[in-house]
Amino acid sequence: MFHFGRTVDYLRISITDRCNERCLYCLPEGYHGWERQPDHLTAEEILRVVRVAAGLGFRKFRLTGGEPLVRREVPDLVRAMAAIPGVECLGLSTNGTRLAALAAPLRQAGLRTVNVSLDALDPQVYRRVTGGDVAAVLSGIRAAVAAGFERVKLNCVLMRGVNEGELWPLVLFAAEHGLPLRLIELMPLTRTDVLTEANFLPVGEAMEFLRQRDELLPQPSRHLGWGPAKYYRLQHTGALVGFIGALTTPHFCETCNKLRLTADGKIRPCLGDHGELDLREVLRQTTSDEAVREVFRSALQRKPLEHSFRGQYQPCRPMTAIGG
Ligand code: 5AD
Ligand code: SF4
Repeated sequence: MFHFGRTVDYLRISITDRCNERCLYCLPEGYHGWERQPDHLTAEEILRVVRVAAGLGFRKFRLTGGEPLVRREVPDLVRAMAAIPGVECLGLSTNGTRLAALAAPLRQAGLRTVNVSLDALDPQVYRRVTGGDVAAVLSGIRAAVAAGFERVKLNCVLMRGVNEGELWPLVLFAAEHGLPLRLIELMPLTRTDVLTEANFLPVGEAMEFLRQRDELLPQPSRHLGWGPAKYYRLQHTGALVGFIGALTTPHFCETCNKLRLTADGKIRPCLGDHGELDLREVLRQTTSDEAVREVFRSALQRKPLEHSFRGQYQPCRPMTAIGG
């Protein structure tokens, strides 16, 4: 599907708003606003949406959450999705805590790529950011590499005063394991208090920091499946580092190619805009796929040209409910 010169062919599907971690930037402390189970789309409903989307030209699909791997049926869902004609890229975004056991079955089911959040290597810093145990994530990453995915990428959200000291260790880790590392600017998605002028760390600054330690060689941008990051190869360490500057990069949204499906069945045209369209009601009220297609078309019309994070954006639904 086309939208102002952008080809929109990427659907990110959140399959749960639940999570076994508590990232500072994602979940408000003491959050209890979980969607009720019956409000979540069932695996059958998700598959119907994927079939319709593939029919409309969507080629790239990603399962997210919350933490998608808290839903037991993920390997079955992946197997069924991989069999749908038109599903070319099939990825998963995860915090990695359950990957050690699930990487191999997911690969066998047809999953092709995995993105793992890794905001710190130091166990204390990792726990401060996520509430979880970095050792579990590291074995998850090893399992993912061993399972032979086409790509395993690492995601790190930059927070001044929290994990900036982790930047260089993460780069060395990425280089050692041959995994692309993406450094992501904190977006004001969930809480206003974690994103302050004091802890926002622009990607430009992270780039300067790396430049003091190594030479950054720009890589050809935007090959298929590499998302919104601008990549550099660090000449001496060999690390491939991507910068996602959603807030400070001019024209960041110009090549946005995605729509989001929330766990409770809303189509969200843009992460940084509260507009959502209710697909779940349509799925439950009619067997007509044309009605589903119509929601996609309206979603595309409602897709803004740019996110509104720089304006008066007020967090509303937490990131975990929107889908990372
Ligand atoms: N700002 C930036 N990135 C975020 N993520 C989650 N919440 C935020 C936020 N507020 C990232 C996590 C995860 C990816 C799916 O989204 O790093 O890896
Ligand atoms: Fe869970 Fe991911 Fe949100 Fe962290 S960012 S709380 S791991 S969903």
